[in-house]
Amino acid sequence: MKTEKDIKDLVSRMTLEEKAGLCSGLDFWRTKEAERLGIPSVKVSDGPHGLRKQDEAADHLGINESIKAVCFPAGCATASSFDRELVRELGETIGEECQAEDVSTILGPAMNIKRSPLCGRNFEYYSEDPFVSSEMAGAFVNGVQSKNVGTSPKHFMANNQEYHRMTSSSEMDERTMREIYLASFEGMVKKEKPWTIMNSYNKLNGTYLCENKEMLTDVLRNEWGFDGYVMTDWGAMDDRVESLKAGCNLEMPGSGGGTDREIVEAVKNGTLDEAVLDRSCEEFLNIVFRYVENRDETAVFHHEKDHETARRIEEECMVLLKNEDQILPFPADKKVAFIGKYAEEPRYQGGGSSHINSFKVESALDAAGFLENVKKENIVYAKGFDDAEDKADEKLVKEAVEAAAAADAAVIFAGLPDNFESEGYDRKHLKMPECQNALIEAVAAVQPDTVVVLHNGAPVEMPWIGKVKAVLEAYLGGQAVGGAVVNILYGNSSPSGRLAETFPLRLQDTPCYLNYGGEHDHSVYSEGVFVGYRYYTSKEMEVLFPFGHGLSYTSFAYDNLKTDRKELKESETLTVSVDVTNTGARAGKEVVQLYVAPKGGTVIRPVRELRAFDKIALEPGETKTVTFTLDKRAWAYWSTEIHDWHVESGEYEIQIAKNAQEILLSEPVRVESETVIPKVFTLNSTIGEIMADPKGKAVFEQAVGAMSGGSAQEMKDSQEGNGVINSEMMAAMMEAMPLRQLISFVPGVTKEALAPLLEALNM
Ligand code: BGC
Repeated sequence: MKTEKDIKDLVSRMTLEEKAGLCSGLDFWRTKEAERLGIPSVKVSDGPHGLRKQDEAADHLGINESIKAVCFPAGCATASSFDRELVRELGETIGEECQAEDVSTILGPAMNIKRSPLCGRNFEYYSEDPFVSSEMAGAFVNGVQSKNVGTSPKHFMANNQEYHRMTSSSEMDERTMREIYLASFEGMVKKEKPWTIMNSYNKLNGTYLCENKEMLTDVLRNEWGFDGYVMTDWGAMDDRVESLKAGCNLEMPGSGGGTDREIVEAVKNGTLDEAVLDRSCEEFLNIVFRYVENRDETAVFHHEKDHETARRIEEECMVLLKNEDQILPFPADKKVAFIGKYAEEPRYQGGGSSHINSFKVESALDAAGFLENVKKENIVYAKGFDDAEDKADEKLVKEAVEAAAAADAAVIFAGLPDNFESEGYDRKHLKMPECQNALIEAVAAVQPDTVVVLHNGAPVEMPWIGKVKAVLEAYLGGQAVGGAVVNILYGNSSPSGRLAETFPLRLQDTPCYLNYGGEHDHSVYSEGVFVGYRYYTSKEMEVLFPFGHGLSYTSFAYDNLKTDRKELKESETLTVSVDVTNTGARAGKEVVQLYVAPKGGTVIRPVRELRAFDKIALEPGETKTVTFTLDKRAWAYWSTEIHDWHVESGEYEIQIAKNAQEILLSEPVRVESETVIPKVFTLNSTIGEIMADPKGKAVFEQAVGAMSGGSAQEMKDSQEGNGVINSEMMAAMMEAMPLRQLISFVPGVTKEALAPLLEALNM
């Protein structure tokens, strides 16, 4: 195995041209080799929910064929599992496939924050919540890398829209960046050390990510300890020399040597320090050799086995959104009409670079034929709609209505067609095709026991929600989605997915409705940290389904919420435990969600934020105690005064919740800050600010007393005496009064007299 020193030696033996050559790809998917020095070329492939290995006719839009592979559920689905172990297993499986196909790095996970449900690529991303996103991505990275294959978490960062993704600048303040958009990557990078990172196409506050030194070097490497290499998204290179200085190691795909020559030229003319190039090559080669030296030649791509894994995973991901009268699960002998094209041809993946050439696809109709407890003779099928164009086909609707009326129940397999959501463009609305909405209405009018199964990558509006009994969100569930859906419909397993994103009632309700997409290539994130449920809960808005929501075929009771202390310092940890019991008659899994709600404080914050979660399996009647450990970050916000995480002293509530809107149990704790934010008082500091500071208060009270000989009190008394202002009003006014105003309002106070006070305050 090559040591750090070996790699340094190797780089020292390379010519300038050879080193510059390592800074860009050989072609679409491969890195360059240097035969003379034993440096091999390695291959990377998309990602993220399966292998899109292209041998010929390469492209980054999923147009040309790749090898036959297995399409697993997309990120929108896997995040809903809230199950780290499951996502880790997915990573292991894909890692094994990569070894079998000699792919050094899988281009994923895709982990941008779902700022708006309109983003065309949300189906690949995990969540509107950075903690969920980071935890799920971390599990995936851990799984893949355990097979000695690299990952490339993407797209770093703030790539939250497809509209003008190659030129648009995502513009946000420092706190929003830290608490939401960087936080999505932070935990994953720190804990799992991804081998590579893919920088995004867009700009961040005006600077292309490929040449953003603050992001690629200061934050990623220096703060978070990233030690792999950064590659560009495909074609995201802007200025090669500047980006090398900023910390971008590899330009993908290759550029025919043009940018390599720019690097050589820059070293020769002194605008680029050769040491920067050397370091970049070392970082890159470390990873190349990590793969090559740990190559597993025995690995096999088990298509059939992985297909089964894809089905099992999807079963754990689907979210049962509604289940009136416990209509689901169906007994095996129920006569059910399967309606809708997706029962036969499921929509199970999204368009673009993640598009997998599935070796087979399992529809719900196929699965009904081979699952043991489903009797095929009890199922009839009517196509209902064809999504080639959004137009109701009266003949298809009539057949569907007749089939539904003649059956005991109807299941409509609906959702979004391919062209409604894809990489490369955003959605314009949250509607399903009109022909599908009309079909659901028509079927529900004749069949009271109507169930809708949704195949979509992002939230949709459901104008028919009150007319159907149940809704099962299958998301884009991978090539085995049909089997997974039927297993849930007929109760072979109990649904256990929870929404990792809010389903709003309508597009106009979404936090960035007025700004999403931006103008003239500036996309201003003016909703700040109020993304997703942070916004809806803080505004107490009604939504269609809240973040964290999901039903089960069994029921759970929560009890005995305990914290190991009532008060703690910010550097101490808090242990929280809660008992969860399966009170129903079947086995099931529950996602235990812990939110923290600050009570008071001087900073504008969301009413609650998810700080911990766990998924547990419970047999009927079984109780488990779930334990969480919270550290400083549970209470902290990003302070722009100290450019660091900061905890305000005060009360915080630990909330155990069914979802972001439904709190089941809560317990207060008091947290003491141990970090003093240095304050500089000026004549414009308000009395409120001074009095809020313990030292300031003491100095101020003493000084004012001495200066005015009680005249401040006199002024207060006289104002109150005239009956215009009561003491509360007075206190409020004083609170907001800058120090300098004492000169105008307190007899005897002069600017000169305030000078020693300021000095004492700032001592
Ligand atoms: C996508 C990346 C992908 C790359 C290579 C780009 O268009 O944004 O996610 O990995 O193409 O296909």
